[in-house]
Order: sequence, then structure tokens, then C-alpha cells
Amino acid sequence: MPERAGQLLVALDVEGLDQATTLLDKLSGVVTGCKIGNQLFTAAGPAAVEAARKRGFRVFLDLKYHDIPNTVAGAVREATRLGVFMLNVHAGGGLGMMRAAAEAATKAAKDLAVPRPICLGVTVLTSLDRHALDAELGIVSTVESHVLRLAGLAKAAGLDGCVASAREIGPLRLQFGKKFVIVTPGIRPAGGPRHGPPDPPTALRPTESVTAIPGGDDQVRTATASGAIEAGADYIVVGRPITAAPNPKAAAQAVLEELRG
Ligand code: C5P
Repeated sequence: MPERAGQLLVALDVEGLDQATTLLDKLSGVVTGCKIGNQLFTAAGPAAVEAARKRGFRVFLDLKYHDIPNTVAGAVREATRLGVFMLNVHAGGGLGMMRAAAEAATKAAKDLAVPRPICLGVTVLTSLDRHALDAELGIVSTVESHVLRLAGLAKAAGLDGCVASAREIGPLRLQFGKKFVIVTPGIRPAGGPRHGPPDPPTALRPTESVTAIPGGDDQVRTATASGAIEAGADYIVVGRPITAAPNPKAAAQAVLEELRG
């Protein structure tokens, strides 16, 4: 498990390279890891990964690949070449797709003589709840059992872990053990708005609002940073509570203080 500061990955969901580098420069010295997702990668491509790595940040490339096995294998190969330390695919892409991803990462890392990136399966997005699973996607099961099912597939395919909300960490740890890497987004400050039935355990329960998310908050299965780490997350992903704060560096420091207890 990484040490506390290494467990925080800041989601760089910004409009382009200039905004990303401005943010990285503000966070430098406080935060050591960042997450580059679809918005920034679509705007700036591999240059965004390069800019973060040049500044000493470890990069989680969160492009949630979901395609036929051959295409995903090719994308994972290219991501490994970019030198990211972690990447992900949608577990809903199935066993064959995830196996192809795992094998491509292993082979590319071997060819380049670099460590294989941590490869994760995305289970159920933290913006979805049981109602959405059932009424929209036709999945008649609890969020927890669907997360466990997808995580089991990810493990069987040779991936290293999964992305899941704080609410599923306990059962995931029980079923897949300590070495299974769990990355948790949907982090909101203690004192944030309450979201999503059913009630999580107290440690995972936000209370009243302190940070407004611009445009409204789309996350549903949320927890505090310390709640997620105490529940057993290896890494937490925090975006807008840091990036949209008036002082992102101070907001990141506050999250780290919270993690140190
Ligand atoms: O701004 P916020 O803290 O909600 O950002 C969360 C980040 O984590 C976003 O970049 C989002 O794409 C990502 N993510 C997520 N849920 C997942 C996987 C990734 O929210 N299951």
C-alpha cells in the first residue's frame, strides 16, 4: 500500500494543457499523483501525461477502455508506452477484453523493461445507484453484488484490482484479499451534501455542505477521504473538491491532513 500522500490522486478534469500545467504547478510539492481522464486526454493527448510526468507526478490514465479485445489491447500497449503507473478498462467489457488488456500490459512492460502498470477494472460508476442499474441498465441486483461480480471477473482476467465506491470496499476486501488494488472516486469533504440510498456506515457518511461543485454534483455513492481510506481503499481520486476550490493547494493539503488524522 502506498504511503498517505501517495494515496491521493487528483483528477485533472480541465479544459486543456495550460489549465492542467497551471494546476500541477500549484499542487507540486504537496500531491504526488494525478489522474488524467477523458476530458484532458481528448484535449491534449499524450502531452498531458508527459507534462505531469516531467513535473514528477505519477499518472493514472483513466480512459476506461471498453471495446473489442484487440482494440483494447492496442490501447493498453500505447498507455504502457506513455509510462503511466496505472490504467483502467471497463469490467463490463467482459473477461476476454480484460484478459487481452492484462496480457498487453505485461508484454509491453516486458518489451520496454519497465514495471507493468497497475491495471484496474471499472465496476459500477460512482455516479450510478441501484435505481439506475435496474431502471436504466436492466441489471436486477444490488450495486454491491454487481460490483463484486465485475471485480471477480477483473481478477479472473488477470487485472490487479478495481475502481469502486467506498461503500463496496469492505465486501471487496473480504472476497479478494489485501493485494487486490482498490481505487475509490466519489470523494467529498466531510460536511458535504448527503447522497444516495441506502445509508452507508457512519465513517462513510458526509454531513452538511461546505464545498459546492460547479454545475451540481453528479456523484451519488460518495464518502469522505478518510472514510474511504479507513474502509481500505489503496488510492482515492479527488477531482472538483480540489480542482474547483479557490485554493487547490490548500484543499489538497486539507485532504492529506484528513488522511493523516
Ligand atoms: O470531481 P470528482 O471528484 O467527482 O472526480 C472524480 C473523478 O473520478 C472523475 O475524473 C471521474 O471520471 C472519475 N471516476 C469516477 N467514477 C468511477 C471511475 C472514475 O468518478 N467509477
